[in-house]
Amino acid sequence: MPNIFDELNPPHRILMGPGPVGIDPRVLRAMSMPMLGQFDPVFTTYMNETMELYRQVFQTKNKWTFLVDGSARAGAEMLLVSLISPGDKVLVPVFGRFGHLLAEIARRCRAEVVEISREWGTVFTAAELTAAIEQHKPKILAIVHGDTSTTMAQPLDGIGEVCRKHGVLVYADATATLGGMNVDVDGWKLDAVSAGLQKCMSGPPGSAPVTVNERVAELVKRRKHVEAGIKPAGFVEGDGPIIQSNYFDLAMLMDYWGDSRLNHHTEAATMLYGAREAARVVLMEGLEPCFARHRQASAALTAGLTAMGLKLFGDQAHKMPNVTGVVIPQGVDPDGVRRMMLDNFSIEIGTSFGPLHGKIWRIGTMGYVCRKENVLACLDALEVCLRKFGFNAPAGAGVAAAQAAYAGK
Ligand SMILES: Cc1ncc(COP(=O)(O)O)c(C=O)c1O
Repeated sequence: MPNIFDELNPPHRILMGPGPVGIDPRVLRAMSMPMLGQFDPVFTTYMNETMELYRQVFQTKNKWTFLVDGSARAGAEMLLVSLISPGDKVLVPVFGRFGHLLAEIARRCRAEVVEISREWGTVFTAAELTAAIEQHKPKILAIVHGDTSTTMAQPLDGIGEVCRKHGVLVYADATATLGGMNVDVDGWKLDAVSAGLQKCMSGPPGSAPVTVNERVAELVKRRKHVEAGIKPAGFVEGDGPIIQSNYFDLAMLMDYWGDSRLNHHTEAATMLYGAREAARVVLMEGLEPCFARHRQASAALTAGLTAMGLKLFGDQAHKMPNVTGVVIPQGVDPDGVRRMMLDNFSIEIGTSFGPLHGKIWRIGTMGYVCRKENVLACLDALEVCLRKFGFNAPAGAGVAAAQAAYAGK
C-alpha cells in the first residue's frame, strides 16, 4: 500500500520520447550544490559564466544571452510578449504543434497573427517563406526551428537575411534543436532565439536559455518601465507601450542580468547550476562532435527501423537527427506497444498529437540518452513488443542494421 511518507523512488527509465530525456549525472550533481543568495558575488559570477557558456552554445556574441526561469515555453512567451506591442503583425509559419503554440501566444499578446501552414511532416521552402514575408510585411516572423510534434527541422539559414532586408525581426524557437543540431544564431542573423534544457541539453525542464541581439534590446528599452518599489532615482520611463507581463518583461530581465543587477524575481539558483553544467557538458564534448553523435544515432535508428519493415514518417531530408517518427503498422495497438516497452524494458517512446495521434510513434535520441546502447536496446525491445501485437519483424534485423550503421558499413 503506497504511503505518502514513503521516500521517492522512481524507476530508472530510458527516456526515448521527444523530451524530457534522462539528465546527465553531472547536471544532477551540480543541482545539489548549496544555495546562494542571488546577489552573492559568487552567484553573480555564476550568472555571468552562464551567459558566456550559452553565448557559445547559441554561437552568438549577443550580450543579452541568459536564462528565463520556467519551461521552454517561458522563453518563447517572454520573447513574444516583450517584442509584440498590441496590434503588431506577426507572421507564424505552422508545420506542427509548436507553430500553433507560437501563434497562440502571439494572439494572447494581442498581435495581428498571420499563419501560413504546411502539411505535418514537411517544411517550408525558402521561397515560400520569402513570399509570405513580402506579401504580409509583418513586424515579426515567429518560427519554430525543430518541431518535435512532426520531427521536422525547418532550415533557417538565409531567412534572417531576408527579414533584415524587409525590416522584419525574426524569433526562432530552438527548444528541440539546441545542442542536437546546428543553431547558428549570428550566422543566420536571428534576432531572438529561445530553447529549453530537457532535450538535447540533457537537463531537466524548468530553465529556458534565450538570446537577443541589439535590435531587440533597442526595441524593448523603449518599452522599459520599472516596478515602483525598486525604481532608481531619476529613472525615465520608456515612451513605448508597457510590456504586458511583469515576470516576462525582457527590459527588466536585462537590468537583472546586466551590470545594474536591479532586483526582479528570485533566480531559480538550482536550475541555474543545472543549466550552467548542461552547457559546460555540451561545450566540453564540442558542438560539432555533439551534433555528429546525434546524426549517427539517427542513421542507426532509422536503418534499424527500416530493416524491421517499418516506415519512417515525414520528409526524411528534413528530419531532425534527435527524434524519429515511425508509422504505426496497421492493426497494431499504439498504446499497447508503448506500455509493454515501458513495463518490460523500462523504455519510454513518444505518442503523437493532433493529426498524427495514433498514426506515429516518436523515438527520441536526445542529449545524454543519445547513445549506442540505448538505440540498440530500443530496437530490440520494439521488435519483441511488436511481435506480441501481431507485427513480425525479421528476428534481429533491426539491431543488426543499427550496429552496421554504427560501424559505418
Ligand atoms: C519546439 C518546441 N517548442 C516548445 C516546446 C514547449 O516546451 P515546454 O513544454 O518545456 O514548455 C517544446 C516541447 O516539446 C518543443 O518541442
